[in-house]
Amino acid sequence: MDLAKIHAKPDLYLRGFKKTLWDTAGIFLLKGWKQIEKENVGTVDDTMLSEILRIQAEGFKNERQGEIIKYSQKFRKVFYVIKRQDKVIGYCIYHMKPFLSSRGFEKKSVIYSIAIDSKFRKKGFGRKLLEESIREMKLNRVFSVLLYVNVNNIPAIKLYEKTGFLIVKEVENVCGQKEMCYKMELKLF
Ligand SMILES: CC(C)(COP(=O)(O)OP(=O)(O)OC[C@H]1O[C@@H](n2cnc3c(N)ncnc32)[C@H](O)[C@@H]1OP(=O)(O)O)[C@@H](O)C(=O)NCCC(=O)NCCS
Repeated sequence: MDLAKIHAKPDLYLRGFKKTLWDTAGIFLLKGWKQIEKENVGTVDDTMLSEILRIQAEGFKNERQGEIIKYSQKFRKVFYVIKRQDKVIGYCIYHMKPFLSSRGFEKKSVIYSIAIDSKFRKKGFGRKLLEESIREMKLNRVFSVLLYVNVNNIPAIKLYEKTGFLIVKEVENVCGQKEMCYKMELKLF
């Protein structure tokens, strides 16, 4: 390990270390994950990645190819895709985080990214993808699902509200520098 570099950028290394810890905890929480039969919704495989990266780039200002590939390897069980006539038309990626309740350690899931191919939006595919994946979350005793959404992203806010998510609070600098976003939560238990 290069100590000079750590000394020069302690924040960066601390952030990297915290991320690795969260990832490790998330992977641990997926042990024994049960999958259910889902209509037109499945999990990612490598052949789908190029299409998913295209849909991601189309849906967001900032491309996150490296992160998406990482999630497809580490969190494959909760990296969902929706298909139409055998073609991937959307994805929803979750990661897991532990939290301490009066019952002991439990898990929450966080939506990292969700997008539907622009040609297929407003046809119910986003809602179907969320509902099917959340059904699986419930079976796996996930206490609640969290997400962050830009306050100006009306289609996404509508989708989440229709699926039952509630706004918990408004926060800054999570969805982007100086951007405001809502933290939303759907309690499953
Ligand atoms: C957000 C997104 C995933 C929604 O997917 P979608 O497949 O179009 O959503 P659905 O068709 O399932 O719509 C779900 C509900 O939201 C509403 N909705 C969707 N788009 C809307 C829009 N542009 N304006 C108003 N309401 C909208 C629908 O009316 C629907 O309500 P209903 O079930 O009562 O009919 C899609 O717009 C997208 O990929 N956006 C770009 C990426 C993005 O912003 N992701 C979210 C980041 S937090």
